[in-house]
Amino acid sequence: MTTAAATTSVSVLGLGAMGRALAQAFRAAGHTVTVWNRTPARAEELRGAGFDVSATVAEAVAASDLVVICVLDTAAVEAVLDAARPAIGGATIVNLTSSTPEEARAVAAAAEEAGARYLDGAIMVPTPLIGTPNASVLYSGEAAVLDTHRGTLAAIGGGLDLVGTDPGLASLLDLGMLDVFFAGMTSFLHAAAMVGSDGISATAFQPYAEQIVDVLKGSLAGLAADVDAGSYPGHEDNLDMELAALEHIVTASAARGIDVSVPHASRRLAAAAVDAGHGRDGFARIFDAMRRPG
Ligand SMILES: NC(=O)c1ccc[n+]([C@@H]2O[C@H](COP(=O)([O-])OP(=O)(O)OC[C@H]3O[C@@H](n4cnc5c(N)ncnc54)[C@H](OP(=O)(O)O)[C@@H]3O)[C@@H](O)[C@H]2O)c1
Repeated sequence: MTTAAATTSVSVLGLGAMGRALAQAFRAAGHTVTVWNRTPARAEELRGAGFDVSATVAEAVAASDLVVICVLDTAAVEAVLDAARPAIGGATIVNLTSSTPEEARAVAAAAEEAGARYLDGAIMVPTPLIGTPNASVLYSGEAAVLDTHRGTLAAIGGGLDLVGTDPGLASLLDLGMLDVFFAGMTSFLHAAAMVGSDGISATAFQPYAEQIVDVLKGSLAGLAADVDAGSYPGHEDNLDMELAALEHIVTASAARGIDVSVPHASRRLAAAAVDAGHGRDGFARIFDAMRRPG
């Protein structure tokens, strides 16, 4: 039943915004889709639209070759797996719920101990992109699960990248990407507050922000090379100069009554490296202090 070409039945457990988008994408690709949701009314809404609705988790797990879980968090996944226990042996589970790497590893171990095959996944896009070529999901765990169910999972859209056999790696990379994303959004909003106090709207500032995001993108390869080499030569930039720029941001923000915690975090790390005698090194030098806080 579970060769790449023959896998056509999928159960989706969890029908929040993302679970519904996934269920709809599988159905649009022609698969037989069974759904279950903790609050039954949300599943009932789909009954008339060609979905099979299961009254229990165990029934939904038993119904399909592939079981996709997408619920709020790991506590919810554990509740679902507990309820699935009568049917879980021999099931193939792809868990697309966001988590920490440690949670993903614990869920993988529990699912495997219960006799299921398990693949973890991290969805990197919002719901409107599910089912389009611009979707993005990172997978980690048992490679054979991805190989066997490629034909079904392809309905989600985008690539089918196995980032590693350690089930925690998809979550870890998800968090790494979100770390960059949230830092960027927070810095943009801080900068908008700073320039906004002198009458420049966020919309007027946006093109300038985009210009510097392009510079940032071009800087990542150099930072990564320095980090991986464990050497931080200040050929093109140096921390003495960069600390001065960070002081300007903190000073100008404070003068306008703006919260300084965002630029202060960068300034603190740069100042510590300069105080330790690394002022002529490049910015990547602060990586060392991050790995050894305090
Ligand atoms: N939405 C996005 O754009 C997006 C993007 C990337 C990743 N994700 C990830 O996708 C996952 C689902 O997100 P979502 O947007 O679909 O969230 P959501 O709309 O808030 O839906 C949450 C789902 O989890 C279920 N649930 C919560 N606690 C439960 C429990 N104890 N037992 C069983 N089911 C439980 C809810 O069931 P009830 O209906 O009964 O409350 C509902 O089906 C999250 O891990 C999220 O980080 C979402």
